[in-house]
Parts: sequence; structure tokens; C-alpha cells
Amino acid sequence: MKRIAILTSGGDAPGMNAAIRAVTRKAIYDGLEVYGINYGFAGLVAGDIRKLEIADVGDKVQRGGTFLYSARYPEFATVEGQLKGIEQLKKFGIEGLVVIGGDGSYHGAMALTKHGFPAVGIPGTIDNDIPGTDFTIGFDTAINTVLESIDRIRDTATSHVRTFIIEVMGRNAGDIALWAGVAGGADDIIIPEHEFDMASVAKKIKEGRDRGKKHCLIVLAEGVMGGNDFADKLAEYGDFHARVSVLGHVVRGGSPSARDRVLASKFGWKAVELLKENKGGLCIGIRDNEIVATDIVDTLENGKHHPDLSLYTLNQEISF
Ligand code: F6P
Repeated sequence: MKRIAILTSGGDAPGMNAAIRAVTRKAIYDGLEVYGINYGFAGLVAGDIRKLEIADVGDKVQRGGTFLYSARYPEFATVEGQLKGIEQLKKFGIEGLVVIGGDGSYHGAMALTKHGFPAVGIPGTIDNDIPGTDFTIGFDTAINTVLESIDRIRDTATSHVRTFIIEVMGRNAGDIALWAGVAGGADDIIIPEHEFDMASVAKKIKEGRDRGKKHCLIVLAEGVMGGNDFADKLAEYGDFHARVSVLGHVVRGGSPSARDRVLASKFGWKAVELLKENKGGLCIGIRDNEIVATDIVDTLENGKHHPDLSLYTLNQEISF
């Protein structure tokens, strides 16, 4: 194929710009034309599409967010929306599409594939919850941002002998809480993929206090419950001078880490290699440090993301 397009969709993630840059530059290097679609699938249906030149992706590799903008667009779940999208792609003479995003975006790419339009998915979400890959673009930056907050919160927690419940994003996945929690020395990590017992959480805090421990940090994944609800339930077991910190969207912004920029560059490069050979209906990932491409329908319908639960066990045994 000779003309491809790229869009970013769903929640933005640091490193998306690096991926757009890689797709654009690699495509131009290989003699293809590249079009950028603004506002994800919403922009696709609206025909908000323009040609990208070499300079359009200059000075972008270090920027957070996505310069193509993003949107949540549930209308693309309808056949009507999907066919309108394909009509726009054809109007611009576009033969293949790169979709960077999370779960919802992948479903959009899968729908295009099912209608016979070649699409390739690149996993871009801070949540790290996409099947077919060990890591997603944005996850590394996000856990480092959470870690910086945990370190800061620890200072004030120690000064006041307080317990902090630090609520982090992740949708239904506990990866962000797990990785940042282990790195930050959290006393407890509460995630959707592992049950927890509030009485044991309270007992651990009390035992720490009795030994003279000054701070207690609990990292809570939003998929379990909100931080304030958790604090209310914890209060039923005693007064632990608890405070709640909801990190929220702060974790979605910021300059991407080196690891995310490299991952994004590898994914973008690979997407063009595939489309150049007219290969669509695939999603790209990294598995055991190898860049892989798997069938998008099979990956979404049969694959499942699993967080590294060995981190959970490890934390239980080294953090108290
Ligand atoms: O999927 C990324 C994510 O940041 C999740 O962690 C979070 O639950 C959700 O998006 C928030 O979505 P929105 O930005 O639409 O509020």
C-alpha cells in the first residue's frame, strides 16, 4: 500500500506522540504517504484528516499527550459509524490505518478489520491492560509519576505519623498500583485481581505502629473502590490517622520516559513494516522483549491481560 493514516483514541498516554512520529517518519522513509486523523474515531467519521509531513512530527518525541488529540467515541461501536469511517478513509485514498490506544480503540480497529479494511493496533494506555503485549505505551511513565508522588507522600506521612491511601488509575487493572507500590515500598497494595481483607490491613498498620513505624502507605487501584470509601471501611477497625490522596489524571500527563519513547518507536516502526506489506488485522506488542504482531480478532476475543501477580506476593513478604 502507498497511503496510510494514523489516529490516537481513548485515554491519552505519554509516548503516543513518539509513536506517531515513528509511524510518520518510517512511512516517509519507505516512500509512503501518511495522513493524521484528529480526535480519534470521532475525527475519522467527521473526515478531520490531513497529510503529515516530516516537519509535522518534529519536536514531538518528548511531549506528553497526543498532538493528534483523542476522544472517547462510543458511536464507533455501531456498524453505521464504522462504515462512515471506512467511507472517509476511501475518500482520502487511504489504504491502511494505524490505531494507537487501549481496549476501546482496539475494538474499533477490530471492527474495521472485520469490514475488510486493514488496520494495525498499537497498545497505548497507562493502564497496561491490553492482551497480546507485556507492556503498553505510557505505562512506564505513569508508574514513575506515581512513584514520585508516593515518595513525596511518604515524607509528610512520616512527619505526621499518618496512614495514606493513595488511589491510582488503571481502570479494572492493578498493574499501575502493583508496580508503583512495589517500587515505592507500599505497606499494602490493593488491586482488583487479588482479594484483600480489611481486618488484615488494619492489623498490619497496628503492628507497624507498635514497632514504632511512622508512616503507612497503601496504594489502591481505582478498580477496587474509591480511596474515600476505602478510608471509611478502614476506620471501622480503628483510628489510623488516615488521609486519602487521589492521583487521578496527573498520572496521564508528562514527558514520556526513555523506555516509553523507545517502545513507542519500535511499535510505530513495526506497524509501517506490516502495512507496507499489506498486512492488516494485527496488533503489535512486546512479549519477552520481542516485538510481536498477533491477529487482532483472536487477541481480543481469546486473549486476556494478566498482571504480574508475583509482585503482589513479593510485596507481602518484603513490605511490613
Ligand atoms: O484508560 C486510561 C484511564 O486513564 C483509566 O486509568 C481511567 O479509569 C480512565 O482512563 C479515565 O477516563 P477519562 O479520562 O475519560 O475520565
